[in-house]
Amino acid sequence: MADEKKLVLITGATEGVGKQTAIQLAAKGFSIVMMVRNKTKAERTKAEILKSTPGAMVDYIIVDLTSFKQIRAAAKQFNDKYPKLDVLINNAGLMYPDKKITGDGFELCFQTNHLSHFLLTDLVLDKLKLSKQGRIINLSSEGHKMGKFDPGNFNAEKGYSSIAQYCFTKLCNLCFTYSLADKLKGTNITVNAVHPGVVRSGFGGDSNKGWLKPIFAVARMFMISNEKGAATSVFLASDPSISNVTGKYFKNCKATATKGNTHDTGNQKILWNYSVEKTGAFKNE
Ligand SMILES: NC(=O)c1ccc[n+]([C@@H]2O[C@H](COP(=O)([O-])OP(=O)(O)OC[C@H]3O[C@@H](n4cnc5c(N)ncnc54)[C@H](OP(=O)(O)O)[C@@H]3O)[C@@H](O)[C@H]2O)c1
Repeated sequence: MADEKKLVLITGATEGVGKQTAIQLAAKGFSIVMMVRNKTKAERTKAEILKSTPGAMVDYIIVDLTSFKQIRAAAKQFNDKYPKLDVLINNAGLMYPDKKITGDGFELCFQTNHLSHFLLTDLVLDKLKLSKQGRIINLSSEGHKMGKFDPGNFNAEKGYSSIAQYCFTKLCNLCFTYSLADKLKGTNITVNAVHPGVVRSGFGGDSNKGWLKPIFAVARMFMISNEKGAATSVFLASDPSISNVTGKYFKNCKATATKGNTHDTGNQKILWNYSVEKTGAFKNE
């Protein structure tokens, strides 16, 4: 029965890991709602999902994650249409070559990879509470290990390096995962993070310029496919064995350790309070 199907909401499902995650979860019987910014790509992804799983429920909502206003509108659209949510996958992410400030006034990578997903999660949290067992999955990266936590530099105020800023945002994804898992302990919702592997996706395409270009071209030969890159997200979304597991970081479908600064509760609190102040989300948590 359609209403017994589990529903997944996923950002960034038009490319790479996100697209494969959506394809594989549809094949497992999940209904899919994609939050994506490009209608043409959304239609293309929807067609791919339906080709591999005819009859799947696939919908999309258009949102540019660099705009809090658009995220609020997209979440409202979702909340008005769907009675509950089983799995939220905060998947979209990017590394950008140059420092760019969004219309909301934040560094592009920080807003897209962290602040926007922080806001989206809060906006759909009530729908996750209505699931029998809700799951939140945040795409992080082993890159978090190179991330530096400097509250005076969240928006690259002290200078910009695409890699350093990206690694910092992936550290944020873990601080957010650990904070939220803690706050939601004892509820029906689990919160975990993922490293998908080093994946031959479209990721970093904008940054592959100059001296990085030949290095990336060689590195791509050793990267895993998008299909394999989706495996840990699919496992976390669907495997019954982990319904009580929360506040963990998964790599190759196994919980694994993260760098010490992600567990620093002082760091977690600073990032949490900053994110609450700037997005208006989680004011009551
Ligand atoms: N690839 C890797 O090796 C690797 C390793 C570790 C972690 N990760 C993480 O895995 C996640 C997925 O990465 P990927 O490799 O699949 O990257 P990808 O192929 O570049 O796909 C990124 C997705 O994010 C979407 N996106 C970017 N900015 C957006 C915005 N402002 N609004 C809405 N959507 C936006 C893109 O939409 P468009 O199609 O419209 O551009 C695309 O669907 C990311 O969080 C990344 O940090 C990747």
